[in-house]
Amino acid sequence: MTDWVYSDIVKDHFMNPKNILSDAEDFQIDGQGKVGNMKCGDEMMFAIHVDKEKGIIADCRWRTYGCASAIASTSILSEAVKGMPLEEAFNVSPKDIAEKLGGLPENKIHCSVLGDKALRAAINDYYMKNDMAEKVREDKAKIICQCMNVTDHEIEDVVLEGVRTMLELQEHTKLGTVCGQCKDEASELMQGYIQKHFS
Ligand code: FES
Repeated sequence: MTDWVYSDIVKDHFMNPKNILSDAEDFQIDGQGKVGNMKCGDEMMFAIHVDKEKGIIADCRWRTYGCASAIASTSILSEAVKGMPLEEAFNVSPKDIAEKLGGLPENKIHCSVLGDKALRAAINDYYMKNDMAEKVREDKAKIICQCMNVTDHEIEDVVLEGVRTMLELQEHTKLGTVCGQCKDEASELMQGYIQKHFS
């Protein structure tokens, strides 16, 4: 018998995803974010309708061409953020979503990152369109390895894909393979991301 890799909650959200944007629907979009992950072949769009007086997400919709994990995790994310203040929704992490899903296979966690990245982009888009540019928070990438031009975001991405050791990190990114000066900082960052997403 084949073991199911995914939990029942993941399967349920995959089979019956909630809050998908349909072409027929007249959904009022106050903010919209689109992100893609070329490695995964995924693209994700997340749209929010905001209750401006209360500063909460009144409703939301999304659409993706992603895999089962991306679909299930965005479906549950869309349920979780309804009625949530914008600031709080901005801080929902992939780990929070994976927990709600009863866990995801480790090599699939990175797919669940798409939904919350798109949500953050939608919230920023709403701030920009409503004269609240000062509230926009962007995930600016910082270059860690100058020689090979590797950023902290790339280190986080490969950790989400399963990298756990310096050797694996170097194999995936080529970081630290020229002057080697970035290795200590890269190693600390890698440990921090492992801690953040998997402990
Ligand atoms: S800074 Fe990373 S190898 Fe030189």
